[in-house]
Amino acid sequence: MKKTVLVSGGAGFIGSHVTVELLQAGYEVIVADNFSNCDTTCFEGVKKITGRVDLPLVKMDFCDAAAAERLFAENRIDAVIHFAAFKAVGESVAKPLMYYKNNLQSFLNVLEAAEKAGGCNVLFSSSATVYGEPDTVPVTEKTPRKPATSPYGNTKQMCEDILRDAVKASEGRLKGILLRYFNPIGAHPSALIGELPRGVPNNLVPFITQTAIGKRECLSIFGNDYPTPDGTCLRDYIDIVDLAKAHVCAVSRMIDGKMKEDCEVFNIGTGRPVSVLELVNAFEKVNGLKLNYKFAPRRAGDVTAIWADPTLANEEMGWKAERSVEQTLAAAWAWERHLHELGL
Ligand code: WQD
Repeated sequence: MKKTVLVSGGAGFIGSHVTVELLQAGYEVIVADNFSNCDTTCFEGVKKITGRVDLPLVKMDFCDAAAAERLFAENRIDAVIHFAAFKAVGESVAKPLMYYKNNLQSFLNVLEAAEKAGGCNVLFSSSATVYGEPDTVPVTEKTPRKPATSPYGNTKQMCEDILRDAVKASEGRLKGILLRYFNPIGAHPSALIGELPRGVPNNLVPFITQTAIGKRECLSIFGNDYPTPDGTCLRDYIDIVDLAKAHVCAVSRMIDGKMKEDCEVFNIGTGRPVSVLELVNAFEKVNGLKLNYKFAPRRAGDVTAIWADPTLANEEMGWKAERSVEQTLAAAWAWERHLHELGL
């Protein structure tokens, strides 16, 4: 019998790519989403890619404890991957209570519902933001976390701690894996699913593709006086399909009983630092176009350089990032053109 994975926030950017990889790896998936920050474009795309026209979709908000409980009571759920959360750093500074309420309440409800149903394997979608401005790079899972610089970052740290404590107290009923993502970018090679930011994008790659298609006039590169080789910030850009595959490895590890501890943490990155300017140049080269960009002042809150040491995920989970920056940027551009054709 197929194992079933519940994907909360499964209609969003990361959730939709993970759903595709889980289905293709032979898992059954229940997608649950309240569509607060996405429409049905990606969910429809998932159905097309996988041929699963009957893919179950539950429209629900995990802040509704009774609904969360019902979902776990009515389905045999072998693992849950929790994506359902707000994720805009700047917005979280302006609306901290909204972020704490949504991101903490929804996760607490997932954990309580899972416990009441007798236990579950829980994968939490965390972020490299928990490392803040690291003292040394690359960062390993043992690199100390730094105090969060935004309510968004704080919710990631708090949810990490909540899961760790809940697992510890659960006497084996709960198992947990925290995946700390670096900078997820790109789109599915089919160009049927990808990132759909609302309004002006905060993140670099959607801003690049929207500038290239003419939706934005000019990309501002925030800071060219950082102490890095070309003066722009260094990040670890991880292809969204590679990232999605890490979730399949983590879910199998939990379900197949391969964990070495009841709560484990893995960095999900490439181990390859890329500067903003290098990324822009690679985008121009692989897609054969010129991007309108200018240098602008530094953006508040940006760290100079952070990239992953992914050795633990490579060795323990047998997962490794495979796609090149060029492949990823070509996919991101194909997705933007697909959105343009759809009039989005
Ligand atoms: C990358 C680089 C910018 C936009 C954030 C969150 C993190 C995670 C991913 C997710 C930086 C530069 C950007 C632009 C630019 N969260 N940049 N011009 O800040 O590394 O990480 O997103 O949900 O938690 O903090 O990603 O894509 O915003 O920026 O020059 O218009 O691109 O300064 O150096 P970041 P990013």
